[in-house]
Amino acid sequence: MGLTGKMTPYKNGFGPFPADIFHIPFPMENHGVSEDDSLAALKSLFKIDVDPERVAAIIIEPVQGEGGFYIASPQFLQTLRAICNVHGIILIVDEIQTGFARTGKTFAIEHAGIEPDLITVAKSLAGGFPLSGVIGKSEIMDAPAPGGLGGTYGGSPISCAAALGVLDVLAAENLNSKANLIGEKIVTRLTTIAARNDVPPIGEIRNLGAMIAFELMTGTNSAKPDAHMAKTLCATAADNGLILLSCGIYGNTIRILVPLTASFEIIEEGLDLLEASLVQCASSRVAA
Ligand SMILES: Cc1ncc(COP(=O)(O)O)c(C=O)c1O
Repeated sequence: MGLTGKMTPYKNGFGPFPADIFHIPFPMENHGVSEDDSLAALKSLFKIDVDPERVAAIIIEPVQGEGGFYIASPQFLQTLRAICNVHGIILIVDEIQTGFARTGKTFAIEHAGIEPDLITVAKSLAGGFPLSGVIGKSEIMDAPAPGGLGGTYGGSPISCAAALGVLDVLAAENLNSKANLIGEKIVTRLTTIAARNDVPPIGEIRNLGAMIAFELMTGTNSAKPDAHMAKTLCATAADNGLILLSCGIYGNTIRILVPLTASFEIIEEGLDLLEASLVQCASSRVAA
């Protein structure tokens, strides 16, 4: 909870949180935060708040999950790696949403061609069975004493078997390529939908493999996020039989994370429901 960069709904009313966790803005060009801005914020953090030599770790999602599916470029991640190397800081990538073929690579960090020191994994790791893990360099992983890191659910045999099954399916069904194909198909369809004049204004559509999102805006060419429309769309789609999830610090982003094993027929069916729901939302707004 200390680490998450999203106040609502995760932090409001909770606390206290551990001290000495600092957040810098994630690059999101379409909301006015360039990668240079993010790096400048880090530089200023090191000047104002914390000596980089005291920093244990920098943690980043290569593609933000809850934060809004913004994508950190390979250059940005390479720059963070270089900064970590200079100051002896550990680089942790959180691949809990991006891991296991979701972005077209087994781990999203592979797009950047750098090696993190630790990777956190969960969710797709065991195809929905409860399992999470940390992958890391041995000098870090072996630092705690044997049994020093434990918990009630550690090493659940059924979840571990499911995770081994996931690795088999990932290879057998070539899910990295499938993720790229899913991404291309969905983005093409979203682009066609966004061009209609009877749907709510859609801003940026972005994806890395099958990690896909689009933003709802208050008007065509408007830079103002429409969180209310995102809520309305999720409710309308649910009524129509399609579960959608919003995300983003502005609450206006719809994320699409279809199972990588889904058939293209099912994906098309979902997109048909999405399109119909968008048209319905726009017409009810006109009627209101
Ligand atoms: C990217 C990301 N990191 C971390 C977490 C938290 O993981 P856990 O529930 O395993 O603590 C989540 C969501 O649950 C997530 O989406």
